[in-house]
Amino acid sequence: MASTSSDESLKLFAITAPGLEPVCAAEMAALGIAGTAEPGGVAWTGSVDELYAANLRLRTASRVLVRVAEFNARSFIELERHARKLPWERWVRKGGAVRLRVTSKKSKLYHEGAIAQRMLAWIGERVGGLGATEAEKAAADETEETPGAAQLFVVRAVRDGFTVSADASGALLHLRGYRQAVAKAPLRETLAAAMLLGCGWDGTAPLLDPMCGSGTIAIEGALIARGIAPGLASADGQPRAYAFQQWPGFDADAWARVVDAARAEARPSAGVPILGSDRDAGAIAAAAANAERAGVAADVELSVRAVSAVEPPAGTGLMIANPPYGVRVGEGDGLRNLYAALGRTARERAPGWTLALLSADRKLEAQAGVPFREVLRTSNGGIPVRLVAGEV
Ligand SMILES: C[S@@+](CC[C@H](N)C(=O)[O-])C[C@H]1O[C@@H](n2cnc3c(N)ncnc32)[C@H](O)[C@@H]1O
Repeated sequence: MASTSSDESLKLFAITAPGLEPVCAAEMAALGIAGTAEPGGVAWTGSVDELYAANLRLRTASRVLVRVAEFNARSFIELERHARKLPWERWVRKGGAVRLRVTSKKSKLYHEGAIAQRMLAWIGERVGGLGATEAEKAAADETEETPGAAQLFVVRAVRDGFTVSADASGALLHLRGYRQAVAKAPLRETLAAAMLLGCGWDGTAPLLDPMCGSGTIAIEGALIARGIAPGLASADGQPRAYAFQQWPGFDADAWARVVDAARAEARPSAGVPILGSDRDAGAIAAAAANAERAGVAADVELSVRAVSAVEPPAGTGLMIANPPYGVRVGEGDGLRNLYAALGRTARERAPGWTLALLSADRKLEAQAGVPFREVLRTSNGGIPVRLVAGEV
């Protein structure tokens, strides 16, 4: 059976949410990987070790794909000729489950469902049969962290040019495993990390989230400050599960090497104050449970208090928040006062600090009275948002 040897060069792509590509490329550069930011992610050519490390260590990527093939096909006969030649047994075991995500644009073969159906049949023939549960698994929510979930292949046709990629991640990478308790409108872990890294926060200055909800920004901050890989953010320090571990060619030695190298970089404590507060006691209880599960409970100081009652620690640092927008957590006119209170509190209690906000509304953000610059644009739960930051 074909294996994936650790010196083989693979064509790799880390998918990110739109707008996070440069942050992810900078993360990769810090890992010694020279990637190229493209719309939707970062491309690079690398080894199996890099594939494993990217999954384990990138804080802002949603998933990592391995390019399987690129070819042109204008008919099902041509598609069949190419698809049957591919070494599917590298990524799928006999009896394994597969799901395909097909998109076709400006191509002769435009029927995405028909492409998926035929390719599933060819993959099944090549590996000696797919599992009986493939139909149910195909319908399953892709974010589910089901052990042994169906292997995803992403097939894109643009002007008759096909690219086929195998998903190496499995459950989306924002699912570190620690956040089981959620408050209202939680932020994806990948976006929380991108907010911090995008602001240039590297874990060496104090951090305060005065509207921390379930604690995502503070917890991601503690992971950065301690150098803990997102895939190791668990109370017992064990890595989460990845699709590549199910591949027949999985290189357990390479994986052990990558995990050991990541563990060796972790520091025993954060070294800077990391504070999270929220006026909602239920949110703080959720944040505390999440911090515990992430293995950073001792690094994050959580308290129930209103924005206007925050007490920033000595020194200058980053005050960063994901305030309610009014779209998802509607609070009407009170929101204007909330943004104004945030700006006032920052000016009065945290002079010299940077204030950063994830903003969906320029008028609301202007209430803070801080000269903001735009750090990045992305979307959060389908809402277009900007991360803005300014000195107070
Ligand atoms: C969009 S949620 C933050 C979600 C958080 N980033 C997470 O990942 O769970 C906004 C939070 O602001 C809090 N909040 C609203 N008004 C507040 C105030 N005046 N003082 C403190 N917290 C407030 C809410 O309780 C809510 O948890």
